[in-house]
Amino acid sequence: MDAPKKRPLGRTGMDISELGFGAWPIGGTGYGPVEERRAVQSIEAYLDAGGNFIDTARRYGQSEAILGKVIGGGKLRERVVLASKTFMGETMETIPEIRSELEESLRVLETDHVELYYLHMPPEDPEVMNRALDEMEILKKEGKIRAIGASIKGSAVTTETVDLCRQYIDSGRVDVIQVVYSILRQRIGEIFDYAYKQGVGIVARTSIESGFLSGKYRPGEIIKADHRKRWTGDTQTRIFERVAELETYALRPPYRSMAQVAVRFSLEPKAVSSVIVGAKNAAQVRENMDVGALPPLDEDLLERLQNEFGGRTEAYNPEN
Ligand SMILES: NC(=O)c1ccc[n+]([C@@H]2O[C@H](COP(=O)([O-])OP(=O)(O)OC[C@H]3O[C@@H](n4cnc5c(N)ncnc54)[C@H](OP(=O)(O)O)[C@@H]3O)[C@@H](O)[C@H]2O)c1
Repeated sequence: MDAPKKRPLGRTGMDISELGFGAWPIGGTGYGPVEERRAVQSIEAYLDAGGNFIDTARRYGQSEAILGKVIGGGKLRERVVLASKTFMGETMETIPEIRSELEESLRVLETDHVELYYLHMPPEDPEVMNRALDEMEILKKEGKIRAIGASIKGSAVTTETVDLCRQYIDSGRVDVIQVVYSILRQRIGEIFDYAYKQGVGIVARTSIESGFLSGKYRPGEIIKADHRKRWTGDTQTRIFERVAELETYALRPPYRSMAQVAVRFSLEPKAVSSVIVGAKNAAQVRENMDVGALPPLDEDLLERLQNEFGGRTEAYNPEN
């Protein structure tokens, strides 16, 4: 199989696979336990498919440690663009801890730098933001990180979320923002052109809506375990009913699953540098990576998805 295409990561000078690997599920926390053997197989499947962009965080359970074992130190490290995140820096008091969290990540990842380091909980207060970014810039000068990102919080994508993206872009001090962008939650698309013009890379997450859009959950089912229990039963029912409808017109060959359609949707805007797709096993990784070889979605389908879901982001946000 051909390696997935690459896109520039904003103004960073780095080119990254348009299909990235979201390493939260393999950490064994957010989506329930994952055996280490399966986590390793998932990473290997991603690398075998030619991917070079991996997204992890200090808070993703065993994710960094397993990545460190597979990639750290050795030859593979040179081909991978590694992104991690710190939970520190949301308040003035925790800003000094950004450095110690990064150092712990580097130790566990068995590397001396990461290419991209995000504020996982980027502060809204502009004064705190600027102080946190001062700290990130020092780490960048020291070569411990190559680019600075803000992973915009809020599974509930609202006007405030869009405003926060704009605030970070306008700071002129972040190279990348990571955002929720999917068929169901398109709202952040409003700032894509602006980010692109400013040279800020967009990393899009949760294209499959944490599995809800994969097509394997049917109306009537309700996921009560793991982080997905934040979506109430009513919202889950609404989503699974819409996905069943979607399948009737959106799942067109050569696409084989709704998961593939969902991933491709998030990849369509040119401002998106990469869609980071989470997976719990190698089969899911391969199915998701196959999207790289598929043609763009048909124009009429894209238009329909934009018309039907574009204005309804808030209907699919978690309620708490
Ligand atoms: N605040 C933040 O910075 C933040 C927050 C969330 C995520 N992220 C990052 O973004 C990445 C992507 O988000 P995500 O992993 O939460 O969500 P996602 O990519 O939308 O969905 C991942 C889940 O979907 C299911 N899945 C994946 N591929 C599938 C396939 N081909 N067929 C059927 N089901 C499939 C799996 O769960 P099941 O098999 O259990 O259904 C998997 O755990 C994360 O891994 C993480 O790196 C960052």
